[in-house]
Amino acid sequence: MTTPLRLGIAGLGTVGIGVVKIVQAHPELLARRGGRPVEIVAVSASSRTKNRGADISAYAWEDDPVQLARRDDVDLVVELIGGENGVAKALVETALKNGKDVVTANKALLSHHGNALAALAESKGRSLRFEAAVAGGIPVIKALTEGLAGNAIKRVMGVMNGTCNYILTRMESARLPYDVVFEEARKLGYLEADPNLDVGGIDAGHKLSLLSAIAFGTRVDFDSMVLQGIGSVSIDDIQLARDMGFSIKLLGVAQMTGRGLEQRMTPCLVPETHPLGQLQGGTNMVVIEGDSVGQIVLRGAGAGEGPTASAVMGDVMDIARGITIPTFGQPAETLAQAPAAVVSTGAPWYLRMTLLDKPGALAKIATALGDSGISIDRMRQYSHDDAHAPVLIVTHKATSDDIAMALERFEGTGVLVGEPVAMRIEEV
Ligand code: HSE
Repeated sequence: MTTPLRLGIAGLGTVGIGVVKIVQAHPELLARRGGRPVEIVAVSASSRTKNRGADISAYAWEDDPVQLARRDDVDLVVELIGGENGVAKALVETALKNGKDVVTANKALLSHHGNALAALAESKGRSLRFEAAVAGGIPVIKALTEGLAGNAIKRVMGVMNGTCNYILTRMESARLPYDVVFEEARKLGYLEADPNLDVGGIDAGHKLSLLSAIAFGTRVDFDSMVLQGIGSVSIDDIQLARDMGFSIKLLGVAQMTGRGLEQRMTPCLVPETHPLGQLQGGTNMVVIEGDSVGQIVLRGAGAGEGPTASAVMGDVMDIARGITIPTFGQPAETLAQAPAAVVSTGAPWYLRMTLLDKPGALAKIATALGDSGISIDRMRQYSHDDAHAPVLIVTHKATSDDIAMALERFEGTGVLVGEPVAMRIEEV
């Protein structure tokens, strides 16, 4: 008789119940593939009596989730509570210290404490795995740590917050402003309890910081990420960008440059013909570029019961099989401390502005761009009835510093009405 792998699950929300359902639905399949049975022995959640749509009566109950980490009959703690600190952190630390493996979906915890927790897991000879923390059901951690292990990774990009992608694509399809669609998303239950985690780009930034660490062998460095949410993206920009052949996405980009590690989670334009530009609704997409494999595109559900529980179970099954992979794909002590690149790699930029419709106004803007070393690729002036002319400019490659300088010069021209909009066009 083979020894079962005994799980203690902390958190019985959407994902936790999804895990319970998989373990209950597929005992033979899991035992066959894992080489031993996978069993749930104990659970912990905020309410014992709540109807969750799955029978948990056979499992031991702990009011305090950290007690799961102290039980002799638990081999593997599944942490699905969430949050950067507090009980989730205490549970993971206690579990590892007590010689238990840990599987978590907690991107906030790992993006802030991942370096220390990975080192702790390795010092105890245990696994700390987090497939479900990044892009829900897409097995992107496995792709990077295993399938692409022979590649030097050149760039990782992704749309990794389904709520933001829902909002942006719904704004376009329904021609509705941000505030209206934000409220819709709230009513549909798409937003995190703190909506700024979604629309401020923080949740997606957490995910990107974890992918960066694996891709480039660097310590997790969320704090150096350039972060901008989608709150300032207007329906006008979405429509005008489309007119020029682009879609606007909350796009994460990580790449190692000669100036250090570049990590950005910002609204960007991408060509509408690229899979990233075609991504609709709450779906996630991760694009990885390796020196041997070239560009690969992974697409799938970034959240939800089944997809996220599927990712949790992928990690559980590795542990059942006795497969140990360092948390970030290489020993934590070998992760490099890369400096953060302050200026982003050059790229074309989208500039939208409204000018006073008077002789020489456009020439002043063109001069300001030229004086900043920026060359114009395409320009469009839209028809207008009043004294204000809407102008769109797509530049040739420029750095974020060049663009900042040009925006400063624009202010001095005296021909601008309101604030100009500048968004990077990611070359994908
Ligand atoms: N709120 C996230 C999203 C899912 O909308 O993608 C959890 O990270």
